Amino acid sequence: MDKFVIKGGNRLKGTIRISGAKNAALPLMAAAILADGSFKINNVPALTDVRTMGKLLQILGGEVSFENDTLHINTQKLSSFEAPYELVKTMRASIYVLGPLLAKFGKARVSLPGGCAWGPRPVNLHLEGLKALGAKITLEEGYIIANVPRLKGGKIALDFPSVGATGNLLMAAVLAKGETVIKNAAREPDIAFLAEFLNGMGAKIEGVGESVLKIQGVDNLTSCSFNNIPDRIEAGTFLIAGAISEGDITLTNCQPNHCDSVIDRLTLAGCTVETANDSISIRREDDLQPVDVTTGVYPGYPTDLQAQWIALMSLAKGVSRITDHIYHDRFTHVAELMRLGADIRMKENTAIVKGSARLKGAQVMSTDIRASASLILAGLAAEGRTDVSRIYHIDRGYYKIEEKLRSIGGDIERRAGTL
Ligand code: EPU
Repeated sequence: MDKFVIKGGNRLKGTIRISGAKNAALPLMAAAILADGSFKINNVPALTDVRTMGKLLQILGGEVSFENDTLHINTQKLSSFEAPYELVKTMRASIYVLGPLLAKFGKARVSLPGGCAWGPRPVNLHLEGLKALGAKITLEEGYIIANVPRLKGGKIALDFPSVGATGNLLMAAVLAKGETVIKNAAREPDIAFLAEFLNGMGAKIEGVGESVLKIQGVDNLTSCSFNNIPDRIEAGTFLIAGAISEGDITLTNCQPNHCDSVIDRLTLAGCTVETANDSISIRREDDLQPVDVTTGVYPGYPTDLQAQWIALMSLAKGVSRITDHIYHDRFTHVAELMRLGADIRMKENTAIVKGSARLKGAQVMSTDIRASASLILAGLAAEGRTDVSRIYHIDRGYYKIEEKLRSIGGDIERRAGTL
């Protein structure tokens, strides 16, 4: 298993190009199931998760290839409707194929995703929503078995604006007979973009980016070409890297308005942040001020930047409280950050972080994509050497993170084959 060896203390300075969004690309790839044809999606990073979704499409009979950061998908020979456990267990987002398979074939057999590193992540909203569109669903031997001659439009009010459930139901409803209304839909840019993509395929979705989506089902969809949106979580992570290292960095190819919540907090923490059309610059010269954060659905502060914020706050001048309302147990990074000297106390789903002037290098272990990012950030700011193991997690969601960090002065190296 590879690890990162980081020597902390360098001030990060320079320009970084943000990659395309993983969490926007994954549902788009699943949406390709809905039409027979050739898709070309630009600005897709060749991350492990994207490759896993590619493998899943191949198992279903599709053709998938990468040409630099352009993804080609051909769905003309799609024939299977089964997503096997072996793939789904490595990536929960595989559940995104459920809606499209059901809409296209009238049946789907998709492995039930299990829990993940930070606790259970149910899919009840996906299943209840599909039932409201007429699907018969049973659970057998760890698989979701769904059947319906043709989905029928219906009214769905989600108990919680789940990103995955909204995406799945949207992809099912576009080929259903009649009108579907999804209330309390997720408004994350990834979902708004999925809706645009589906409309590009010929779907009729109104309310894109809003919490009520109105879908008029159509009989057929066609393939299309699209440019993926920039990754707001990667952008947020690099902004925090600028802040934690007292750096001066500029991000290009990003969408600043998708990053408003983190930009606001960084400004309160004492950073100077400037935005232009598709770039964001951050500079820090003063002490870091403690800033409380509570995660929420978009446009709130994202749970996917919670771990990184705790790393940053462990160097602030005072006490801050970071509460995760989306995933109450997503705090596996806390014990690892404490190995670097961070002073953090957990009270239910709130981390109480007592900032201090320094962290000290140590050996730490990644537990998920965003936890890994927080350990790398802390390692970059810590005195001495930090070894971050199990970095296969980071490769799922951050494209060539060590190369990007090195290009702005980070001392980080990938070492193969060691624990
Ligand atoms: N939930 C339910 N029932 C459901 C679905 C969700 O109770 O049927 C709950 C979850 O347990 C959680 C909350 O609703 O408490 C939010 O879950 P959501 O469905 O919105 O999340 P997701 O679709 O499973 C996506 C991202 C995650 C990100 C969350 C929240 C992708 C592929 N994944 O997951 O990203 O944390 O939204 O924004 O888009 C990551 O990239 O590292 C990552 C974990």
